[in-house]
Amino acid sequence: MTHGQFPYIRGRRLRASAAVRRMVAEHDLKPADFIAPVFVMEGEDEKIEIPSMPDYYRHTLDLLLEEVKELKEAGIQSVLIFAKVPEEKKDNKGSEALNPGGLMQRAVRAVRDAFPGMLVMTDIAMDPYSSYGHDGIVEDGEIVNDESVEVLAKMAVSHAEAGAGMVAPSDMMDGRIGAMREALDEAGFEHTGIMAYSAKYASAYYGPFRDALDSAPGFGDKKTYQMDPSNVREAVKEATLDEQEGADIVMVKPGMPYLDVVRAVKEQVSVPVSVYNVSGEYAMLKAAAEKGWLDEEEVMMEALIGFKRAGADLIATYFAKDASKVLNGS
Ligand code: PBG
Repeated sequence: MTHGQFPYIRGRRLRASAAVRRMVAEHDLKPADFIAPVFVMEGEDEKIEIPSMPDYYRHTLDLLLEEVKELKEAGIQSVLIFAKVPEEKKDNKGSEALNPGGLMQRAVRAVRDAFPGMLVMTDIAMDPYSSYGHDGIVEDGEIVNDESVEVLAKMAVSHAEAGAGMVAPSDMMDGRIGAMREALDEAGFEHTGIMAYSAKYASAYYGPFRDALDSAPGFGDKKTYQMDPSNVREAVKEATLDEQEGADIVMVKPGMPYLDVVRAVKEQVSVPVSVYNVSGEYAMLKAAAEKGWLDEEEVMMEALIGFKRAGADLIATYFAKDASKVLNGS
């Protein structure tokens, strides 16, 4: 409505000061929204920067505990552990994934013992353990579904035995959530949660992560199991199925190019929705900031609030610590 030639309703009144802007903010970020991915490797007293992920490191287990301490002090309550498996321990069936004394299992135990209040999450997929770098077992050049699901369900139980509070299957095999729920319940882990990577796209944004774990597929790509970037209805179908199979949280991945998918999933499921702000998204912002082309802190916070606006309840992000420091004013 206008009064004479002037606007009667002035949106700028609600933007006029920091106080009023803060008061009418529709969305908020807090450190407890973040899931911090961490990379662990064998060895002692060493951390190696991931070349395509500036300021992000793979830690040996002793130093990982120091890193988790910092995350905790920043107010972060959950970590998602990824283990770098030595080449000689990889095979087609991902056998090392089930080793109770494996690096992942040791890392889970150590973090849980040192920080009892921290929610320890683990990635469930065979690629870091697979000689082919695929998320399931390979037979005649195909990634077979049902045999892979059997191994993945055992992997979930193995991580639960080590003390994982929640497992996060990222493999995109069919029926894995139901199989994992059943296997966990049968083994007495009915309180171990499942955060399903429900809508995981076959994305080029995972490149830096595959550098971090040396887990790039040895042949072909992941398009027969990860989703086609053209689709959104299919994401809703996958998330709905995962919810029915017992997922406690569903996730969309990657994040920034898939905010419409986050919104669509959010409107259909009644479990919390998380989003994975993946390695390539981190690399892009870091690279532009290094060149002085973008303000790193501002762009980081803008991307993160964008996830909340799209409907994400939780955000797995390599910016977890830095963003929490900004939120804490430290
Ligand atoms: C393993 C897995 C991947 C990521 C998380 N779990 C890589 C892939 O599927 O190839 C990617 C995470 C990132 O890029 O930050 N299945």
